[in-house]
Amino acid sequence: MGATVLVGSQWGDEGKGKIVDILSEKFEIVVRYQGGANAGHTVIIGDKQFILHLIPSGILRENVTCVIGNGVVIDPQALLDEISILENNGISVDGRLFISQNAHLIMPYHKLLDSIGESGEQKIGTTGRGIGPCYIDKFGRRGIRIVDLLNRDELERKIRFNLKEKNELLQKVYHHEGLDVEEILKEYLEFDKTIDKYIKDVPTFLNYSLDEGKSVLLEGAQGTLLDVDHGTYPFVTSSSPTSGGACTGTGIPPNRIESVIGIVKAYTTRVGNGPFPTELNEEEGEKLRTIGAEYGATTGRPRRCGWFDAFLVAYSKMINGIDSVAITKLDVLSHFDKIKVCVAYELNGKRLKHFPTSVEQLSKVTPVYETLDGWKENISDCKTYDDLPSKTKDYLNFISEQSGIKIDIISVGAERQQTIFC
Ligand code: GDP
Ligand code: IMO
Ligand code: MG
Repeated sequence: MGATVLVGSQWGDEGKGKIVDILSEKFEIVVRYQGGANAGHTVIIGDKQFILHLIPSGILRENVTCVIGNGVVIDPQALLDEISILENNGISVDGRLFISQNAHLIMPYHKLLDSIGESGEQKIGTTGRGIGPCYIDKFGRRGIRIVDLLNRDELERKIRFNLKEKNELLQKVYHHEGLDVEEILKEYLEFDKTIDKYIKDVPTFLNYSLDEGKSVLLEGAQGTLLDVDHGTYPFVTSSSPTSGGACTGTGIPPNRIESVIGIVKAYTTRVGNGPFPTELNEEEGEKLRTIGAEYGATTGRPRRCGWFDAFLVAYSKMINGIDSVAITKLDVLSHFDKIKVCVAYELNGKRLKHFPTSVEQLSKVTPVYETLDGWKENISDCKTYDDLPSKTKDYLNFISEQSGIKIDIISVGAERQQTIFC
C-alpha cells in the first residue's frame, strides 16, 4: 500500500483542512510536508472551529497519528500555542504527534526579515510568518534544525553564529536595531525542554509504517500556483506545495505514492500580490467574498475572488499528477444567476496552448469565458450526487471536462456532514 498526497490546486485556501479531516477517518497517519505557520487550515466540528497552522488536520481524529515532516519550517511558539489550544479543547497530542529532527526552526530574525522585506520595493504580500527567510537559511546551509535542540552547546554556537551575521545585516543594511542573542537563546533552550518528546526519525517511521500496511495521507499546505518552482514566481511561497514536495518533505520515495488528490475550490481566490486572470471587479468580487466568507484563516486579510479557471486547474492536474478531485465551496455559487468559467487564455489575440507561469504573460492574458446558468437553490443539505439540482450537475460536468479532472468528493458546506462522495 502506498501513500496518498493531498494538494491545493489553486492559490491556497481551497478547503484542504476540511477534506483532510474527512479523509482522516480512513487514514492512520497524516503528515504535513512543507510550509509553516503561513498555512491556516480550518476544520469545523459541531460548534467548534479549529484553525491549524502547523499540526496536520488529522489531529482532530483521536486514532490518527500526526507527523510534521522535514520539509516544514517550525515556529516553536506557534507550535506550542497550537498544542495548547488543542489540549484546552480536550484533544491530547501526546504519543500521537511527531516532528522530524530535520525540520528547520523559524527564528525571531526570520520574522523580522520577512516584515522588513515586505516594506521594500517588491511586495509579495507574505503572511509575515518568517517563511521565506527561514527557507533561505535552510538552502544557504546555515539553518537551525529541530535536531539542534538536542545538543545545547551546538544550539548555542549556531544561534550565536547566525545572530552575528543577522545583526550586521539588520543594522548595516536595514538600519534596524539588532536582536538580543541572550533572549533568543533563553527562548529556544526553553523550547528544547518541551519539544524533545515529539522528535522522531520521520523517514524511517513513515517507510516502516507503509511496510506494515498502514495508511498514510500527506497534507500539502498552500497551493500549486504558490509553488516556488511551478507557481507564479516571484509571487509564491518559498516551498514546494506540489505533489513532488511530498517526497522531499517527508522521506517517502516517489514509487511509494499511490495517488494524488487535488482540492479545488468551485471558484478561485488568492491572498497577497501577483497576477490573477479571472479576478472579479470590486462589486462582483465582494459578493463572492461575502457569501464565501473569504478572509484569510491566518492573517484575516480579505481574499481576492474570481471565477473558476479551468485552464489553471488543468495545469495543476498536470504538475501534480492529480488522480481525483474534491470540489469545495460549491454551495457559495448557489447565489449567482449566471456563473462564468474560464476555459482558455488569449494573449495578443491568440489562444495559448499551455498555461504560462511567467508573471509578465499571465498579467497580460485575457480569459476566455463560457457562461453557465446558476441553479439558485440551496444545496447545502444535499447528501448525494442525485440530490443536486441538474444545473449544479451541469456546472460540475462542465468544469471537470474543461479541466480534465475526475470529481470524487463534493463539499457543500464547511461542516463534516456537508460532504458528498460520488
Ligand atoms: P485551507 O487552507 O485549504 O485548509 O482552507 P481555509 O481553511 O483557509 O479556507 C477554507 C474556508 O472555507 C474555511 O473557512 C472552511 O471552513 C470553509 N469551507 C470548507 N469547505 C467549505 C464548503 O464546501 N462550503 C463552505 N461554504 N465553506 C467551506
Ligand atoms: P493555506 O495552507 C493562501 C501566500 C501569501 C503570499 C505568498 C507568500 O492556508 O492554503 P509566505 O508567507 O508564504 O511567504 O507568503 O503566499 N500564502 C497563502 N495563501 N493560503 C495559504 O496557506 C498561504 N500561505 C502563504 O498570501 O501571497
Ligand atoms: Mg488556508
